[in-house]
Amino acid sequence: MRFPEHFLWGGAVAANQCEGAWASDGKGISVPDVLTSGSHSVPRRIEPGMNPEYTYPSHEAIDFYHHYEEDIALFAEMGFQVFRLSINWTRIFPTGEEQEPNEKGLEFYDKVFNCCKNHGIEPLVTISHYELPFALVEKYNGWTDRRLIDLFMRYCQAIFERFKNQVTYWLTFNEINAGTLYTGTMSTTNNFKGFHGSLKDLKDNPGERYQALHHQFIASARAVKYVHEHYPQFKMGCMIGFLGYYPYTCNPDDVLATLKQKQMVDWFCSDVQVRGYYPGYSKRYFKENGISIRMEPGDEKELTEGTVDFYTFSYYMTFCLSTDPKVEQTTGNLLGGAKNPYLKVSDWGWQIDPKGLRWCLNEIYDRYQIPIMIVENGLGAYDVKSKDGKIHDDYRINYMRQHIEQMGEAITDGVDLIGYTPWGCIDLVSLSTGEMAKRYGMIYVNKFDDGTGDFSREKKDSFYWYQKVIASNGEDLA
Ligand code: BG6
Repeated sequence: MRFPEHFLWGGAVAANQCEGAWASDGKGISVPDVLTSGSHSVPRRIEPGMNPEYTYPSHEAIDFYHHYEEDIALFAEMGFQVFRLSINWTRIFPTGEEQEPNEKGLEFYDKVFNCCKNHGIEPLVTISHYELPFALVEKYNGWTDRRLIDLFMRYCQAIFERFKNQVTYWLTFNEINAGTLYTGTMSTTNNFKGFHGSLKDLKDNPGERYQALHHQFIASARAVKYVHEHYPQFKMGCMIGFLGYYPYTCNPDDVLATLKQKQMVDWFCSDVQVRGYYPGYSKRYFKENGISIRMEPGDEKELTEGTVDFYTFSYYMTFCLSTDPKVEQTTGNLLGGAKNPYLKVSDWGWQIDPKGLRWCLNEIYDRYQIPIMIVENGLGAYDVKSKDGKIHDDYRINYMRQHIEQMGEAITDGVDLIGYTPWGCIDLVSLSTGEMAKRYGMIYVNKFDDGTGDFSREKKDSFYWYQKVIASNGEDLA
């Protein structure tokens, strides 16, 4: 057996991409609630004020809020042992600044976690998955303001105490390293106070982004330390969107440029969160790019005291890096890169690289030597119903099979991989395009980009295939 006996198989979602019920039971407006739908060619827009000209896909999403029992029962039928989901901050603190949590919001997650428990499923909870209360953008310019650390801690303390008997595994910030990139401005550092319009027109301010990221590092470390002192049964993880760059050629310039890119995009945040300090290369990067981070006395100590217990990451693609500007480029979720002639791409142009997953797993484990979980991976594809009315998604099965094979190889290489939660185990709203048409699920949801659909759920072929994989603990991949 390649996979360890207690390997955790499951799936992953995020609140804003599945729950809907965006204004129910006291919930406040979160950043995704002001994002319009787009497509592969039309960028999403930030449009506060709920302009009737636009569609806001998070408002209904797949209505997990009212379908969670059915959905969790389907996950259990597939054999899930773990379900990664996020808590929507604005259900608990609608503007982020209330003194007391919203009881109705807490009750919803109580029900969800109890439902998981009744099905023997372990929740893995992302505390902040691109879901900042929008009021904190308008008032504080997002995470650029240090006061968000205390507001985050208030939120953390409320959910830790309430769910202490239901949840063991927690992740502080989803893809925290998005903050090292321009795309993180909208999703994670949220420094876009006063902006509205197309995301392509959003200005980048690296100095603000890195300052915001510093505040997130402190917030994460403080939450981890707090947990270690008050809830020693919890396990706290970091979450990185891993991009895995190869040098395009063996030209030393390409190799060094790749090293630098990987340091700041793939390693920087986890070096801080796992090792507990800013790495030397980041200091050079800041100096050369005119970035100076304001730290308070005690910040460095807090970072060393709040290191995480396990490492998690999302893995969709890899890129090449070339110093030759003529080399063809391709796109991805957080960033693009040079096209790799050896790889095929998804319907959305994302490069598919199963062997790259084995390589990344080895690199991560060699560096940190702590347990690892893959908390997102999957194929966003157009699913078309066949004449028999079913979705025969052999392309998704192939994708997953090849990635799981490489996970098995990595485990045989000695990597301590403890779990796998493929993304969008049930169809949901795409983050980058806001589409429903980009489907990841093993469960199909009758909901479409024109707003039609009755939210009914159907099993795709991949549902039955993954069920077999889990039942055989990763041995039967046929
Ligand atoms: C990750 C995010 O970057 O990629 C998810 O954590 C997101 O929220 C996923 O949905 C897939 O990206 P997309 O754009 O296809 O939804």
